[in-house]
Amino acid sequence: MAEIISGKEISEKVKAEIKAETEKMKEKPGLAVIIVGEDPASKVYVNNKAKGCEQVGFLSRVYRLPESTRFEELSELIKQLNTDREIDGILVQLPLPKHISEKEVINLITPTKDVDAFHPVNTGRIMTGDYYFLPCTPAGVMRMLREKKISVAGKKCVVVGRSNIVGKPQAMLMLNESATVTVCHSKTVNLKEECRQADILVVAIGKAKFITADYIKPGAVVIDVGMDRDENGKLCGDVDFEGVEKVAGAITPVPGGVGPMTIAMLLSNTLTAAKYAGKK
Ligand code: GUN
Repeated sequence: MAEIISGKEISEKVKAEIKAETEKMKEKPGLAVIIVGEDPASKVYVNNKAKGCEQVGFLSRVYRLPESTRFEELSELIKQLNTDREIDGILVQLPLPKHISEKEVINLITPTKDVDAFHPVNTGRIMTGDYYFLPCTPAGVMRMLREKKISVAGKKCVVVGRSNIVGKPQAMLMLNESATVTVCHSKTVNLKEECRQADILVVAIGKAKFITADYIKPGAVVIDVGMDRDENGKLCGDVDFEGVEKVAGAITPVPGGVGPMTIAMLLSNTLTAAKYAGKK
């Protein structure tokens, strides 16, 4: 049976470190989260982000804007926050309503406050390894591996999914740490064969329990980034946990795996941004 990698436990350790640093600071780091519309999953994520801020002693502001918000109004808010000394991190929850361009909105955030690391300046910096922030989910995955003393150097890493938020930066972070990386996606021929080559498999495709035991090389490390619902409406990942844990060497559960790490990394980025802004 595979070792269970508890993101919940590791995230508690990371948050305790952040809290300890924050307690020593005279000016608290501040995070502004903007949500536009009523997407139920987004509402849960935003509440969890605010809760995380509270746990570590950050200032937290949540802006809940109606679905009908115009780009100009959102733009005005972001510009204000860009120059607000209390606020070190700005996060616009995605997806945005269809009438607002996500790209244009992300481009408005000052790169040194872009704690999601979605701005082109930050995504570009990840390519060269010279970054202010790492995107939260891939950074959380790397931190979990580090905590478990799982080195990626020289390993065959397979990333399933090529989104800008997870798959692409995940591949880049693994490459920066000297892994041999394959990125697979919906057009990949022989996905199962590719996955079976992986010493470390990261799955971020948004399809409930898609990756079954026959995709796994015995002993492999399996990281499940999925947040899906199974046929009974129960939260599950992209990996069929029950089958895969019998073959893998280590595996992250859903819930309690990558999810809590993402929030811990967001808090870590906000602390970095506060220091960048000169807060001590
Ligand atoms: N929607 C889903 N994941 C994320 C994330 O990491 N950041 C933001 N801003 N929106 C998201």
